[in-house]
Amino acid sequence: MTRPFPDDLLQLPHRREVPFAKLTTLGVGGLCRWLFEPTTEQEAQAFVRACAREGLPWRVLGGGSNLVVLGDVEGPVLRLALPKTVLCEGSRITAPASFGHIALAEVAAAAGLSGLEFASGIPGSLGGAIRMNAGAYGREWVDILERYRFLTPEGELVEKAPEPGEFRYRWSHLTAGCLVLSATARLREGDPLAIRAQVAEFRDRRGTSQPLSKRNAGCIFKNPPGLSAGRLIDAAGLKGLRVGDAEVSTEHANFLVNHGHATAEAFAELMERVRARVREVHGVELEPEVEIWRESSPSQPAADRL
Ligand code: FAD
Ligand code: EPU
Repeated sequence: MTRPFPDDLLQLPHRREVPFAKLTTLGVGGLCRWLFEPTTEQEAQAFVRACAREGLPWRVLGGGSNLVVLGDVEGPVLRLALPKTVLCEGSRITAPASFGHIALAEVAAAAGLSGLEFASGIPGSLGGAIRMNAGAYGREWVDILERYRFLTPEGELVEKAPEPGEFRYRWSHLTAGCLVLSATARLREGDPLAIRAQVAEFRDRRGTSQPLSKRNAGCIFKNPPGLSAGRLIDAAGLKGLRVGDAEVSTEHANFLVNHGHATAEAFAELMERVRARVREVHGVELEPEVEIWRESSPSQPAADRL
């Protein structure tokens, strides 16, 4: 079933019936009935304002590298397609939210700017990385974030520096209808060769510990304080557990991989089984890191939905 949308929304660039399998790294999910792809910040603001005015729940998609979508999504989904302009001013780098995260790390490295090396293996968009406060190897976005711009659920533009409490481990306050538009990182001038060497080292470490040759959505669960979700799942003997073509990776137990024909429902079931077994064996409740989208629950935190 499709929903009629107001004319001002329908005038914005959009596509119909796009499979989430093509929009997410895991390669599963139903159809995105309405994919809006604003090419300017003004169009993005028009989208958010129209949705607010109509009381229409909407979602924002970045690179789809931290998402499992269950079924079709009938409501409007926004994916920014802003011009790919990166601004380097001294040791600062500013990019639009739709800019590729790994590409941004590469621009910084090429400019001899150090600080974004940790990002070099984290896929998705800059907006998704800010929203998730993405991180690796002891660094996370909030460490380098100088300013960020976003739209509130009412469509008001806010530009600010991060404040205490706004970003934590794999979490930010930018949930429920906030749309990141751009961000500025404060980096430092470094030796280009040393930056390249650090990027190469991180990539090697990833290549040997993570199942990068199969479709996945990164780590499925957050690490509980002081613990490693991967180690807990591994110690519970769950590596290789399968539901259809969805499998607990044999390389890294906190990654679920798609062997080709997995369904979103299989991933959801596998996550539940892993969670239940880890609870049983270790008495630890794992909290999902990936977002689960269900049509009926547009903007609740993932943890509430499983
Ligand atoms: P999506 O998956 O599209 O969306 C994730 C969330 O962000 C959703 O809630 C979405 O609504 C929201 N969002 C997206 N764009 C915006 C925006 N412009 N404004 C507001 N909200 C937005 N993550 C790590 O932190 N560290 C890692 O080391 C890491 N390694 C990974 C390795 C692999 C191989 C893969 C596949 C994933 C990995 N991830 C890692 C997970 C994922 O890449 C990050 O969470 C990434 O930052 C998500 O960005 P995205 O654009 O793909 O977001
Ligand atoms: N381990 C096992 N078995 C496994 C996997 C890991 O025993 O199957 C052990 C490892 O031997 C190690 C410990 O668990 O002693 C931690 O593993 P690893 O170094 O791979 O790091 P991680 O905690 O599993 C985290 C992030 C990754 C990030 C890496 C590198 C989370 C949930 N995961 O993984 O982020 O890339 O560190 O910094 O915080 C993501 O968030 O999606 C993600 C991939």
